[in-house]
Amino acid sequence: MSRFGSIWGSGPPVLKALAAQALGFLFLLSLAHLFPGRLPFWLWVALQALLAASLAAWWGLGPWWRVFQILVPVALGWQLGHAVSAWVYPSLLAVVFLVFGGGILTRVPLYNSGSAAWDELLTLIPEGERWRVVDLGAGLGGPLAALAHRRPEARFIGVEASPLVWLIAWLRCLPWKKNCRIQAGSLWRFPLAEIDLAFAFLSPAPMAALWEKACTEMKPGTLLISHSFQIPGVEPERRISLPGRPGACLLLYRIPKMP
Ligand SMILES: C[S@@+](CC[C@H](N)C(=O)[O-])C[C@H]1O[C@@H](n2cnc3c(N)ncnc32)[C@H](O)[C@@H]1O
Repeated sequence: MSRFGSIWGSGPPVLKALAAQALGFLFLLSLAHLFPGRLPFWLWVALQALLAASLAAWWGLGPWWRVFQILVPVALGWQLGHAVSAWVYPSLLAVVFLVFGGGILTRVPLYNSGSAAWDELLTLIPEGERWRVVDLGAGLGGPLAALAHRRPEARFIGVEASPLVWLIAWLRCLPWKKNCRIQAGSLWRFPLAEIDLAFAFLSPAPMAALWEKACTEMKPGTLLISHSFQIPGVEPERRISLPGRPGACLLLYRIPKMP
């Protein structure tokens, strides 16, 4: 693959989504120039949505991004015919920040692991032992809420950077506050020295840096488990396939002894 191809392949989805809208718009502009007959306004909007969503699908963006590609032109088209109060856009921006802000720099969006992954994680935490388990990027708290009451002796902690997502996870894990807490902040500042098992469901972008952090801070023999995203150049000790999305799996990386 060319250098551009690999940068494009691992680049942030938001850039691909914007590029799809821009290309769709340029194509329609040329079409309008070549065939200047009058088409109904909403047909142009529908064409823009269709082109942007098709490009997004072709570039491998997930279903939510495709829905987003359709909603953006429709919302803009609607807005052209309506006066929108000045507070609407800053409020939307604030909501986007509260939900996705934590993952913008790490290039990690919010999506949730499922109960099949949590069940597999449970089998990796020995019963009756005081293991310390962290979910790096705890999202809405699903994994920790599912594990904390089934392993009451273990200690669970989640780190989440997006404020609203953190609040939901914190509320969700309140019933298990004896052995589970959710901390607001960046996973990069969370010390891993006392952790027996670190779980992360992030994206391809931060995996190399995460491995470096884990190898520097975690004790040899402890586990870093990545949901679906490989650490480049490192062979996992074990791979557990998960049902559902193609390629979904847990990848188990054992922290090696440092030379
Ligand atoms: C894909 S979700 C996974 C959620 C959860 N672990 C699960 O398995 O359901 C990743 C989460 O990591 C959070 N995140 C991204 N970068 C982060 C960072 N630097 N520090 C803390 N959380 C981060 C995002 O806000 C998002 O909620």
